[in-house]
Amino acid sequence: MTRAKRKAEHLQYALKTGQSRLTGFDDITFVHQSLPDCSVEQIQLSTKIGELDLSSPIFINAMTGGGGEATYQINRKLAIVAQETNVPIALGSQMSALKDSSEIRTYKVVRDENKNGIIFANLGSEATVDQAIAATDMLEANALQIHLNTIQELTMPEGDRSFVAALMRIEAIVNSLGVPVIVKEVGFGMSMETVRKLHSIGVRAVDVGGFGGTNFAKIENARREKLMSFFNDWGIPTAVSIIEAKEAFPELSIVGSGGVQDSLDIIKALSLGACATGLAGKVLKTLVDDGVETLIEEIQEMKEELKLMMTALGARSLQELQKAPVIISGKTHHWLNERGIN
Ligand code: FNR
Repeated sequence: MTRAKRKAEHLQYALKTGQSRLTGFDDITFVHQSLPDCSVEQIQLSTKIGELDLSSPIFINAMTGGGGEATYQINRKLAIVAQETNVPIALGSQMSALKDSSEIRTYKVVRDENKNGIIFANLGSEATVDQAIAATDMLEANALQIHLNTIQELTMPEGDRSFVAALMRIEAIVNSLGVPVIVKEVGFGMSMETVRKLHSIGVRAVDVGGFGGTNFAKIENARREKLMSFFNDWGIPTAVSIIEAKEAFPELSIVGSGGVQDSLDIIKALSLGACATGLAGKVLKTLVDDGVETLIEEIQEMKEELKLMMTALGARSLQELQKAPVIISGKTHHWLNERGIN
């Protein structure tokens, strides 16, 4: 199968399989405060991922690039949305453009349409230092995401079967690159143990890419007859994964993504310890079903809704939001208990 066909199928099946809403956010409830002593105009949404300053905690997470006109158009439209809403945008893996320069335009369009925006380059953990530098330079990127996608690869019969020395390669990139490195999962979540390993080699920002939204095991299984359905329910729910990462290193920049669909999911992710949230599948669906203008409106609305909920909680900043009391119930409570996290 050609790369272009695979990318087109990922888009198609991501839309078809949808978001499963198994993130664990439904297990999180805020404790209502009747005297918040706060006004909407006092609310600050500004945040940081590592050294990167962001005006709000929402960004468009990595999806596509390479593969021809369809991905070019999606990236062009996403770039317009990112610019209009002033949110960062991450690109899909650039390995295909590093191997075939005719594909560069499908990625570069994001910088061309969004000249002053914050853009994250993206490669897998097989990347070398030279490839990381080339991918970052290609987009004049402000940060590099390195994705970890073991389960997706194992679910593909033609996927990678060896994942040795990934940590060493990531360490080399962290030590050589002039921009921050964010190590991310793609919908299977990160454990405390994974976060500790990443921290030990100097990684200062992770995107937990938790379970419960877009499911790449289901996407890969939907594309073929030989099923590896045992991976369909594999992964750490996003809410749990944020808490595990926070428990491993409270000072780490934790991006809470995976199945984030609305402002309530976002505020829950932020209250659990995330400094920002990335949305992929939800953004893609709105863009394809309803177009650029609707997506711009939805993102602006999410920011306004965040301010209303933060006012209700008396949290003027994201730091104050992390102190808002929450009740954790159900499977999420059980998981944290089993893992010795209180
Ligand atoms: C992705 N994702 C992804 N991630 C990455 O790091 N590099 C990539 O190339 C891609 N490609 C990609 C294509 C499509 C069509 C989708 C929907 C997603 C994964 C994405 O960034 C995110 O981690 C997961 O989709 C989970 O988040 P959502 O979709 O539940 O918000």
